[in-house]
Amino acid sequence: MNQNTPMNPSLSRRGFLSSTTKAAAGASLLAGLPIERFVLGASPSDTVKVALIGCGGRGSGAANQALSTDGSVKLVAAADVHPDRLNGAISNLSKAHKDKVDIKKENLFLGFDGYKKAIAMADVVILATPPGFRPMQFEEAVRQGKHVFMEKPVCVDAPGFRKVMAAAQEAKKKNLKVGVGLQRHHQAGYLETMKRLHDGAIGDVVAMRAYWNGNTPWVRRRDELEKQYGRKLTEMEYQLRNWYYFVWLCGDHIAEQHIHNLDVINWVKKGPPVSARGNGGCETRKGKDYGEIFDHHVVEFTYADGSVCFSQCRHQQGCWNDVSESVIGTKGKSDLGRYTITGENAWRFKGGGKDAYQQEHDDLFAAIRNDTPFNEAEYGAASSMTSVLGRMATYSGKEITWEQAINSQVDTMVANIDKVSFEEAMQLMPKSLPDPETGLYKLAIPGVTTVI
Ligand SMILES: NC(=O)c1ccc[n+]([C@@H]2O[C@H](COP(=O)([O-])OP(=O)(O)OC[C@H]3O[C@@H](n4cnc5c(N)ncnc54)[C@H](O)[C@@H]3O)[C@@H](O)[C@H]2O)c1
Repeated sequence: MNQNTPMNPSLSRRGFLSSTTKAAAGASLLAGLPIERFVLGASPSDTVKVALIGCGGRGSGAANQALSTDGSVKLVAAADVHPDRLNGAISNLSKAHKDKVDIKKENLFLGFDGYKKAIAMADVVILATPPGFRPMQFEEAVRQGKHVFMEKPVCVDAPGFRKVMAAAQEAKKKNLKVGVGLQRHHQAGYLETMKRLHDGAIGDVVAMRAYWNGNTPWVRRRDELEKQYGRKLTEMEYQLRNWYYFVWLCGDHIAEQHIHNLDVINWVKKGPPVSARGNGGCETRKGKDYGEIFDHHVVEFTYADGSVCFSQCRHQQGCWNDVSESVIGTKGKSDLGRYTITGENAWRFKGGGKDAYQQEHDDLFAAIRNDTPFNEAEYGAASSMTSVLGRMATYSGKEITWEQAINSQVDTMVANIDKVSFEEAMQLMPKSLPDPETGLYKLAIPGVTTVI
């Protein structure tokens, strides 16, 4: 079987494996991982060591932002399951930050358990794999006593939500700082608009609307991947590479993208909804390359005070598109993403503020260096679970309450994936498999599919 083609031959999978195998000497490295090595209260002159887990587009971006924060920061370890992604990211980051990427070859890890070893090397870990892996990786980072930046969504099902919530409590006890990649919370226009809404600028918020209507972000087709790598992919490798289209990895686009808008609505209401009902399906994006997710979801979320958010997210070509949140109150209206308030207290944001992706890292690293409170895990988990609640409503066609959703026992993760060797993991079967004749995956059927 051919190996993937690494961008930098010195960082080949074989190279990593031999070095990590030597270092690992069986299970001894994992067994010897330090727990609660130390809780960093770094002064401005201390070097903060960062590990990157998940070296794709966003992981590379987040590492770049972490390395661009004030003070001395070094990238000291990285982990990914695919050598080509690992090599590419490290090679690019080394070019962009020559003096800040200080990774010994033995601190580059492959395999599904690589995250545990990379976490052990660092003070701060960036978690940017497909979101299905987030709960297990966040739990481990907290167990090892490390500060965390984790991308959204932080879970794709209820067992994952519960794991993240438990780890969030533990992180607080250990005084760990946790950032979540819901960057609107660090965007000056959103912050100023939200402050006004919470100060009563539009009175009581009675109705809300959230949209992420756009197009398919990307697809990695099996035949093209197999041509690129010159070999057949196992079902596991195919799903990992084309992860957007599988619920256990992505959560569906309502969780992967629309979470940003639902999170803003939760922020307005200072908590998640109490129930959801909706419709959804896959009308136009059909075919074996598009896995098991829907191409549209329309959900009505009800909050504790009876107010309702009407939400839509859609991946369909040739339709009207909009990504926005707006809210109507007893004294006016606000378009949050446009930073405007109309009505009695009309107002418009005058501009300013940094790029929110950089600002969220500046804020996290400042909290680490100054030891100020910083823990976004709980609202990050609640917003992630809100999007899962919406998916539960559209997949089942039933009205689902928050309590039913968070207590659901439906666990989408492949059991033991990080407990076996990489080669064995690649032979494991995900829960959703293609029809052997058509290659098509089963989609949820509203009225039939059960979610709780
Ligand atoms: N906040 C934002 O605006 C924003 C924008 C884009 C992406 N994201 C989020 O960032 C995350 C990553 O998205 P991306 O676009 O970078 O995807 P990507 O496919 O480019 O990168 C994911 C990487 O994770 C690796 N990986 C997969 N499973 C792994 C495992 N078990 N252990 C280690 N590595 C593993 C993959 O090989 C790949 O390199 C997602 O949760 C996504 O929703 C957030």
